[in-house]
Amino acid sequence: MNILVTGGAGYIGSHTCLELLNVGHEIVVIDNLSNGNFEALKRISELTKKDFRFYQEDLLDKTTLEKIFSENNIDAVIHFAGLKSVDESIKIPLHYYHNNITGTLVLCQTMKKYDVKKMIFSSSANVYGVPKNVPITEDSPLAPINPYGRTKLIIEEILRDLYVSDNSWGIVLLRYFNPIGAHESGRIGEDPSDIPNNLMPYITQVAVGKRDKLKVFGKDYNTHDGTGVRDYIHVVDLAKGHLKALEMVTSTTGIDAFNLGTGIGYSVLDLIKNYENTTSQKIPYTLTHRRPGDIDKCYADVNKANKKLGWKATKNLEDMCKDSWRWQKNNPNGYEG
Ligand code: NAD
Ligand code: UD1
Repeated sequence: MNILVTGGAGYIGSHTCLELLNVGHEIVVIDNLSNGNFEALKRISELTKKDFRFYQEDLLDKTTLEKIFSENNIDAVIHFAGLKSVDESIKIPLHYYHNNITGTLVLCQTMKKYDVKKMIFSSSANVYGVPKNVPITEDSPLAPINPYGRTKLIIEEILRDLYVSDNSWGIVLLRYFNPIGAHESGRIGEDPSDIPNNLMPYITQVAVGKRDKLKVFGKDYNTHDGTGVRDYIHVVDLAKGHLKALEMVTSTTGIDAFNLGTGIGYSVLDLIKNYENTTSQKIPYTLTHRRPGDIDKCYADVNKANKKLGWKATKNLEDMCKDSWRWQKNNPNGYEG
């Protein structure tokens, strides 16, 4: 099949492009490179020995999008493109709403015009807000607590309305938990453009000597060691979840949401300990105050994805730490180096 991948030069998109090519799909990538990297695309070609079309364009540009659909025979779309920083979304909400929601509207309008009605959308565990219970099932209340999460929920609802209006669509909403890790080649990985907000990229930058020490946000959470618990999932497992979702959207119609996680919660201290043991790198840290907006525990119930998508994460925390470290060690300055 010929798959249009929006945001394919980003972290999760690049790993998914690689898996799509590896199983024989063709891909077309659109990315404005606001947070993605052309070098990632070059490395995907190098690893797979396959070429593909890349449009350095913005999703908001309807004319360009129509050109892409008219020049390529697209069968389905995997829609990663979006802005993803919670902090930034609180500071510049209109930009987030415009980019994420309007971008998706333009994409859906163009898909409809070209009769492409198969879509996988990158949603987030952020749509659950502060969960009442863990593990979180897909039918838990949806109540995001920041503009970023609200863009995801609004898009989910737009896509549900779209399906109600036309039952020939096939749409899968994938709610990712905490993706970390990198491809085992060490050639593609996560390359934050600024000081990392997220835990794993911060740890790897401490390990490689770019940062002095990690601040552990909060030591009095209601968890086994007082630090926040999350469901970390290897980005390659996540990428493979998209292949399963693709099978579903192309073989059926309907719309459904799936959690993609491992179902296991690890604390910040668990992750540090595991990273140190796996990589033999020391991670100096200090315990400090909570980060506003953080929750104590967040991990997925993954039964629905296991049963209905036929997908299960296979990589463990050691694999995630090992692969994150290989990527960082080989690329201390990310793709710039
Ligand atoms: P990323 O920033 O690495 O990738 C997103 C890509 O989209 C970037 O390459 C960026 O340049 C591109 N992009 C953004 N707006 C665009 C536009 N208007 N037109 C064209 N390209 C545009 O992020 P990621 O971590 O790979 O995340 C991919 C998707 O998954 C995002 O939608 C994100 O919200 C979602 N998600 C990510 C996480 C995570 O922890 N990384 C968790 C849950 C959900
Ligand atoms: C954050 C986002 C979430 C997004 C996810 C992945 C918030 C509130 N949520 O989730 O929407 O999907 O990133 O992009 O920002 N931690 C430290 N020190 C650090 C960084 C993090 O102790 O320097 C802790 C956090 O307090 C948390 C855990 O590590 O307990 C994981 O944090 P992070 O990687 O930022 O992910 P989330 O907060 O789960």
